[in-house]
Amino acid sequence: MEDVICLAIETSCDETSMSLVKNGVEDLATVVFSQIDIHKAFGGVVPEIASRSHIESITYVLDELFRKTAVTLDDVDIIGVTYGPGLIGSLLIGVQVAKTISLITNKPLIPVHHIAGHIYANNLENRLKFPLIALVVSGGHTDLIYMKKDYSFERIGSTLDDAVGEAYDKVAKVLGLSYPGGPKIDDLSIKGEDTYNLPYPLDDDSYNFSFSGLKSAVLNTVNKEKQKHHEIRVADMCCSFQNRVVEILTKKTMRAISEYKVKNLIVAGGVSANNGLRHKFSILCKENKIKLSIPKTKYCTDNATMIGAAAYYAYKNNIIADLSLNAKAVDNLYNDEILQPK
Ligand code: KG4
Ligand code: ZN
Repeated sequence: MEDVICLAIETSCDETSMSLVKNGVEDLATVVFSQIDIHKAFGGVVPEIASRSHIESITYVLDELFRKTAVTLDDVDIIGVTYGPGLIGSLLIGVQVAKTISLITNKPLIPVHHIAGHIYANNLENRLKFPLIALVVSGGHTDLIYMKKDYSFERIGSTLDDAVGEAYDKVAKVLGLSYPGGPKIDDLSIKGEDTYNLPYPLDDDSYNFSFSGLKSAVLNTVNKEKQKHHEIRVADMCCSFQNRVVEILTKKTMRAISEYKVKNLIVAGGVSANNGLRHKFSILCKENKIKLSIPKTKYCTDNATMIGAAAYYAYKNNIIADLSLNAKAVDNLYNDEILQPK
């Protein structure tokens, strides 16, 4: 196949991002406009504000992208876009822009599942080796996925309630830390000790996860201490919470690796930036001779480069949409009609 340059668009949550990616592996140029500062005042993402902000910034992001490189729109071969899952209003902006560019340039429109994007962020550094287990941990997802080959996704476990990043952000809020709380808890946990007696989340034979019990335990402890006019040892609480999360994520993932007899693990999504998780996986994978791949920090949280990385393989698998493509808020386990080869 000749070189394929993808213009990729990601607007599923609170980042307006566009990227030019060559052959699914080479980041030619990327722009990420983060709305974090806009949402901080509200302690979390406000969907209506997010979609308005995407509208306001998306053409600037597009202009800025082409200013960064000698590549022109004529050089682009495919248009990749996150069609879901995510915030519907936010997704719609990216999908509409992708459809418009595809219509005026007559270039193929490639629908990309947001989680496929997170997984393929790993391809930007090292080619994925199959079969593999992928742990996708973000603000909206906690999934264990078995991949036999390129672009084949079998979800073997998922969260039954809160996503792990969501639990991080909610716990952070209760501890008075600003949004997004994940990185702050991560930083503080190094300075604290595991002194709070928090429950171990869903430790069963399944590959599913549950974080709402752990989150509630933190909330209850904080409330009880407040009633007694005791101070919360924030760093110790961060350390105790993070240890429980890391223990359960690594335990179930390593069991999946062993039961599915794979030698490759990839970790992806915003929470894969977590230092505690990266450290524990690096030790366990070394001990068990498993090849571990985690994206660079800038590719862990939402960005369009990962969407361009995945779009290339979707295109190779003949997954192409027409102009009836619509945004989808709900996660359909990678089994969407739209993801079936044409
Ligand atoms: O992948 P992402 O940018 O958006 C979604 O697809 O959800 O992930 C954002 C999530 C937020 O919940 C944020 O708190 C969390 O990733 N996060 C972290 C860290 N960095 C980002 N959580 C724990 N430790 C971190 N270092
Ligand atoms: Zn994401």
